[in-house]
Order: sequence, then C-alpha cells, then structure tokens
Amino acid sequence: MNLVFLGPPGAGKGTMATRVAEHFTIPHISTGDIFRANIKGQTELGKKVKAILDAGDLVPDELTIELVRDRLTRKDAARGFILDGFPRTIPQADALAEFAAVDRALNFVLPDEEVIKRLSGRRVHPGSGRTYHVLFNPPESEGKDDLTGEDLVIRPDDQEDAIRNRLQVYKQQTEPLIAYYDDRSLLVDIDSAPAPDAVFRQVLKVLS
Ligand code: AP5
Repeated sequence: MNLVFLGPPGAGKGTMATRVAEHFTIPHISTGDIFRANIKGQTELGKKVKAILDAGDLVPDELTIELVRDRLTRKDAARGFILDGFPRTIPQADALAEFAAVDRALNFVLPDEEVIKRLSGRRVHPGSGRTYHVLFNPPESEGKDDLTGEDLVIRPDDQEDAIRNRLQVYKQQTEPLIAYYDDRSLLVDIDSAPAPDAVFRQVLKVLS
C-alpha cells in the first residue's frame, strides 16, 4: 500500500501517519522529520536546510526528490509506505510518479483557524518525532515525553510568523496537488476536525 498524505501544516498528517504505519506495519516517511533529524545532527544537509525550515519555506525540489527516491529504495519500503509531507509541489509529484506508484492520496482537510490552534499548542519529542498538544493530546507529565521522560520542545517553525508563511506556501505550492491527484482518481478527503480516534476510524475505513 503506497500512500501519500496531503493537507495543510498542522492538519494531523504526522499524527495519523504514525498510527497508520503501526497498524499496517509500513514505514512512515516524513520529509520534515528527515530534515529535522539532519538539523539536529548538524549534517551538511541539515546546515543547508535549517534557515529554510525555520522560516517555513520549501526546501528545493531537486534535494527533496533525491532524498525520497533514495529512501524508497530501502527494504522496509518494499511492502508499502506512507509519504507524509511529500510531494509538496507539482514537480515533486511528477518525479514521484516516475519512481513509485501511488495507490491513494489522503487529503486531510482542516480550516485555517484550527491549523493555527493546533500548531501553537504543539509540543514535540525531538528524538522520536512523537507529537503532543497542550490541550488536545497532552503528555502524561507536562512538558515530558510519555515513553522516555525527556523534554518536549516547540518547533521553531511553530512561531506565529512562520505558521503564517507556511499556510501561504501551502496554498500557493501544495494545494494544487489536490486537483493533481483528483484528476488521477487517487484522492480521498479526510475530515481532520474531529478528535484523533475519529479521524483514524475514517482513515481505516478508506484503506480497508
Ligand atoms: P513538515 O514536518 O512536513 O510540516 P507540515 O507539513 O507543515 O506539517 P506539520 O508537521 O506541521 O503538521 P501535521 O499535519 O503533521 O500535523 P501534526 O500531526 O503534527 O515540514 C516541515 C518543513 O520541512 C516544511 O515547512 C519545509 O520547509 C520542509 N519540507 C518538508 N517536506 C518538504 C517537501 N516535500 N518539499 C520541500 N520542503 C519540505 O498535528 C499538529 C498538532 O495538532 C499536534 O499538536 C497534534 O497533537 C494535534 N492534533 C493532531 N490531530 C489532531 C486532532 N484530530 N484533534 C486535535 N488535535 C490534533
């Protein structure tokens, strides 16, 4: 099962991808997580993309496409995968079509005002990418990861200016992918406004 998760920043793509990956035992491949891991590890790639991510702009297509093309050659992706945050532009979608088939594109739909609420309350465990929300999905102990007890952080791109820019970039460059996958009869809308368990039920219904 080869899946693409689309939707505005903060729509819950990562939250659902984690659950779906576990349910179907397929890898959750988040380009955002890969870039953040490189920034944390201070790799050459990380140094190149840090300012871009902090501002909420997009990493150049060529770099991102090569990263995903390479990741999909790994053994664990042979039975299927979830691409979370890729493709994000039409050239990325065209490139993906050349090296992998997409079975479904799930479009997580959430209004802008909910996006802002979700991103401003998000807390992340940098080691694993596990995501919490101060109100909607709080950790058991405030500010600490449930599994490791380590500190949770606020992503630099969850500051107000960067959130506004990410929404604008999404509308200009990523939203056209909704029509792209709809034209190919691969698109399914998921209402992302309900609580996570209800969103997950919708996703399982679509995929079963
Ligand atoms: P990326 O990490 O992909 O960020 P994003 O698309 O902006 O998505 P988010 O991770 O912000 O949100 P999400 O939809 O996963 O929501 P989440 O589940 O966390 O990309 C970051 C950056 O990397 C980009 O800006 C760009 O610079 C670069 N990049 C990445 N891919 C690229 C590409 N292909 N090309 C070029 N550049 C690229 O949920 C959000 C919050 O809501 C959490 O707090 C969560 O707990 C809560 N929540 C989730 N679901 C629910 C629910 N149902 N009810 C209530 N709360 C919920």
